[in-house]
Amino acid sequence: MDALLAIRGVSRRFGGVAALANVSFAVPAGAIVGVIGPNGSGKTTLMNLVSGVDAPSGGEILFEGRPVQGRPVHRLARLGIARTFQHIRLVPQLTAAENVALALHEPEASLADTLLRLPRLSHIEGERRRQAVSLLERTGLDGAADRPAGDLSYGDRRRVEIARALATRPRLLLLDEPAAGMNATEKRALHALIAGFRADGITTVLVEHDMDLVMGVCDHLHVLNQGRAIASGPPAAVRHDPLVIEAYLGAEDA
Ligand SMILES: Nc1ncnc2c1ncn2[C@@H]1O[C@H](COP(=O)(O)OP(=O)(O)OP(=O)(O)O)[C@@H](O)[C@H]1O
Ligand SMILES: [Mg+2]
Repeated sequence: MDALLAIRGVSRRFGGVAALANVSFAVPAGAIVGVIGPNGSGKTTLMNLVSGVDAPSGGEILFEGRPVQGRPVHRLARLGIARTFQHIRLVPQLTAAENVALALHEPEASLADTLLRLPRLSHIEGERRRQAVSLLERTGLDGAADRPAGDLSYGDRRRVEIARALATRPRLLLLDEPAAGMNATEKRALHALIAGFRADGITTVLVEHDMDLVMGVCDHLHVLNQGRAIASGPPAAVRHDPLVIEAYLGAEDA
């Protein structure tokens, strides 16, 4: 299978900190690939580089074989790369449906653009609303369509973020800790949702601390520790890798 995404020797330095150091791996089209590692290991930095929020200090990022590193978010969105954020970014005073509708035609709209257009958005029209509600339905949230995003539980806001990312019709979806703040029932629903992306032709990169979810839903894992890729393989193998166990135990001792 061809790689949809290839990370090649990617580094990102912040002053003296090597957030990522010479990381390489490929994500095959149609796969669900997990990126795990202790706090501060570089997972979000990697998501930022692939989605265009940030640019690498070195190395290449190929999407469908084309170098895309350093391109802005809106260009990558148009190519089919969408993401959710570890620190949720919704407009709290807009309803769940309005937050999703924003991404339907204007995936590249910045938060500033969005706020400028608030009055115009207070009544989203029929077809956009229908599509937004249908995307919320897919994430199990159609009942919350007309509630302000800021009033929703943490887990529900994470699902609105997924619906918003899906609104851009992504081919590559990057999820940064989608299960954070979810209860066991919500996590089971999230598992089913992510597993279903495969059938829709969406390739997924999942950053997650919940090991049951990661081990259960991913085809393949890459493990980061202090900015370096220390292991990769099928979940069952990675789980027993001594380097991985040591990285997590070391993080607990710190
Ligand atoms: N904008 C920034 N400026 C300076 N340092 C940064 C910046 N972003 C990340 N870092 C540093 O880079 C390292 C990796 O951070 P990153 O957020 O990618 O980790 P993470 O694996 O996502 O952690 P967590 O599991 O806690 O979310 C950390 O040492 C962090 O402090
Ligand atoms: Mg992070």
